[in-house]
Amino acid sequence: MAIKWTQALAVGHPTIDGQHQELFRRLDKLLEAMMKGDRDEIGRLFDFLASYVVEHFGTEEKLMRDAGYAGYEMHKLAHERFVKDYLAFRKSYEDAGGGAALTIKLQNWVGDWLKAHIAGTDQVLAKALVKRAG
Ligand SMILES: [Fe+2]
Repeated sequence: MAIKWTQALAVGHPTIDGQHQELFRRLDKLLEAMMKGDRDEIGRLFDFLASYVVEHFGTEEKLMRDAGYAGYEMHKLAHERFVKDYLAFRKSYEDAGGGAALTIKLQNWVGDWLKAHIAGTDQVLAKALVKRAG
């Protein structure tokens, strides 16, 4: 079980790429802690990720606002949806007291979402930012 950032997910904007790598690293640690059933570590990582995700999305949203980016509203909505789903997942995980099925669900959901979001929405944004900085 693993979630890995690969070079194929690089969008070419150093700040965004750096934050994506940290997101993958911490999510992978969360999945690892879930596999081990390490409740303290799971709680810490859930907390860390809740604020890191908001910080990361905030960084992208500021870059978009500063650039007058046309896709801002749509991109921001995708971020808000993710945060909502993440918090709902955390609640269902904690209510259920954990479990392998939810661990696999998190891996699949978050892995698929991040890859699709980064390869699609974030890639388009980064290209626009890099072109603008040109
Ligand atoms: Fe994004």
